[in-house]
Amino acid sequence: MRVGIKGIGFCVPKKVLTNRDLEKMVDTSDEWIRTRTGISERRIAEKGTGTSDLAQEAALIALKNAGVLPGDVDLIIAATTTPDMPLPSCACLVQKKIGANKAAAFDLGAACAGFVYALITAEQFIKNGTYRNILVIGADLISSYIDWTDRSTCVLFGDGAGAVLLAPVQSGGILSGVIGSDGQYADLLKISAGGSKTPASAETVNAKAHYLKMSGSEVFKLAVRGMADAVNGALAKAGLKLEDIACFIPHQANQRIVDAVAERLHFPKEKVYINLFKYGNTSAASCAIALYEAVEEGRIKKKDKVVMATFGSGLVWGALILEW
Ligand code: UT7
Repeated sequence: MRVGIKGIGFCVPKKVLTNRDLEKMVDTSDEWIRTRTGISERRIAEKGTGTSDLAQEAALIALKNAGVLPGDVDLIIAATTTPDMPLPSCACLVQKKIGANKAAAFDLGAACAGFVYALITAEQFIKNGTYRNILVIGADLISSYIDWTDRSTCVLFGDGAGAVLLAPVQSGGILSGVIGSDGQYADLLKISAGGSKTPASAETVNAKAHYLKMSGSEVFKLAVRGMADAVNGALAKAGLKLEDIACFIPHQANQRIVDAVAERLHFPKEKVYINLFKYGNTSAASCAIALYEAVEEGRIKKKDKVVMATFGSGLVWGALILEW
């Protein structure tokens, strides 16, 4: 049995935060951000918005696109590290909002690599015959965890959600996938307070411990190696060569990371899809949104083989090859 994407959708908030806006908030410049990251602007959710609100929009578009009714969804997996609240899960909130009454629902935490992790998880449920229609969501409202006075992180991220309806298909679909992690690098990218070890308190807030902190240059190097190795692993598993791939959808973290991965793989730049200049790093939503737009723009056509590669806090990584 083959498992493939029957429908896809995405949602980003309306509010645009440009590099010029950030110049007024921290000691940075449009020039620095564009040359060091490739990002020009990002979308930021209005106060009071939850990750499930963006996920709901993306999910409804994916279902419409697939021609599947919410009531026919068997399982919802929401890849997110920024759920609306610690409990209930974002997936359950989405279930309620879209009326997917008979679905089971859970969140999956694999940071920026969550969408690829969730696709591979969902694929197993369909392959082993447990479920037919699975809504896979990658969504993060990372702006809630950004210290807007920290120039080393606040310029990088944006909010968004992407969703696909995964189901059995006649041919093509997911050809291979690999996921991996290395917890010894857990300290390189983390939000240290607000969890069970250090619950939110006046002290944690004063210490700004509930914000995302990152050792950027170390993560950069590991991201390049991790994504390139994951792509090679997925290619080997599928018995494919790089020349077979029509489009590379990398995690949209930084143009320089993407360029370095492509160079390491000897992958032609014209086959690499980029939209990070307008959204920044949307964490678990990143590859899903890029996949949607690459299809919309005609960069991916029917029967094309596509490779997605991703990387994030944990550290975690993953790559997935699918035939569109
Ligand atoms: O999903 C995975 C998530 N993680 C990532 O995507 C992050 C991966 N890392 C990166 O993208 C890059 O490391 C950064 C964009 C974060 C930083 O680029 P870099 O080339 O590694 O710069 P750096 O950290 O080595 O910093 C260079 C300089 C520093 O100044 P000094 O110490 O050389 O005087 C920073 O303070 O750039 C400074 N800097 C800035 N300057 C202006 C850092 N952020 C900014 C800024 N504006 N926004």
